[in-house]
Amino acid sequence: MSIQHSDNAAEFVAHSDDVFGRIASRYDRLCDLFSFGIHRMWKRRVADIIAQEEWQTLLDGATGTGDIMLRVLKKQIPASRRIIASDISPQMLAIAQGKLGQHGAQVQLCQLDMHSMPDIASGSVDAYSISLGLKICQRHLALQEALRVLRPGGRLIILEASNIRPAWLHRAYLMYMAICTPAIGWLATGGDASAYKYLLHGVREFPGAEQLAAEMLDMGFCDIRYERLSLGIVAVHIARKPG
Ligand SMILES: C[S@@+](CC[C@H](N)C(=O)[O-])C[C@H]1O[C@@H](n2cnc3c(N)ncnc32)[C@H](O)[C@@H]1O
Repeated sequence: MSIQHSDNAAEFVAHSDDVFGRIASRYDRLCDLFSFGIHRMWKRRVADIIAQEEWQTLLDGATGTGDIMLRVLKKQIPASRRIIASDISPQMLAIAQGKLGQHGAQVQLCQLDMHSMPDIASGSVDAYSISLGLKICQRHLALQEALRVLRPGGRLIILEASNIRPAWLHRAYLMYMAICTPAIGWLATGGDASAYKYLLHGVREFPGAEQLAAEMLDMGFCDIRYERLSLGIVAVHIARKPG
C-alpha cells in the first residue's frame, strides 16, 4: 500500500510496524498516562453521542481494547442493537474480547482494515465511530470507506486530536507534548519508541477541527458539526451520509 504522507498524520503503516500488537497489554495504562486519565471523559462524551443516535448496527472502527463500544454497552442499549467492533490488530481485539463479559451476544469482533472493509456490505451500517484512529491511517481512504458502509442518513462520529484555541496555547501544548511524551513513553514502554513517535507526529500533523469538517464536507458528508473537548486537545466530529 503506498503511503500518502499528507493524508496520514502519524505516517503510520500497520503492515510495517506492529506497534499496537506489541503494546496491546499496556495500551489502557498508556492512555491513562499520556492523557492523565482525561481520555476517559472524552470517550464518555462520544458514547453519550452514539447512544443518542438512532441505530441498530454500530461499527466501531479501530476499536483497540474496546473503550468506545464498552461505554456504549454500559448505557443499557436495547438488546436488539448490534455492535461490530473492528481493528487491524488481533492482539488489541483479544483484549477487547476479554472485557466483553455479559455483553458478548451483542458484539461481533472482526479484524478489519479501516481503509478497505470488503466484509462489511455497502449501506449496511447505521452509525460508524472511530476514536483516536483517524490520525494513524490514510484518512481520505478511511472516510471514503465510512461513506460506503454507512446507510443513507447514517452517522459518522469521530474523536480525534484537534487544535486548541487560542493558537499560542496550541503551540505551547505541542511543545509540552514534544518534551514530555518521549520521557513518559520511554519509561512506560521500556524503550519502544514507536508508541510515542506516532502519537506525537499524529497530534502535530492532524488537521484542526475546521479543516477536518471541510474535508468531510468535500468527501460527501453533510450536517457536519463538531465539539471541542478540553479546550480543543481533541474534538468530536459528527456527520451524516446524505440521503
Ligand atoms: C490509538 S488506538 C485507538 C483505540 C481505541 N479506539 C481508543 O479510543 O482507545 C488506534 C487503534 O487503531 C488500530 N489501527 C491502526 N491502523 C488501523 C487500520 N488501518 N485499520 C483498523 N485499525 C487500525 C490499532 O491497532 C489500534 O488499536
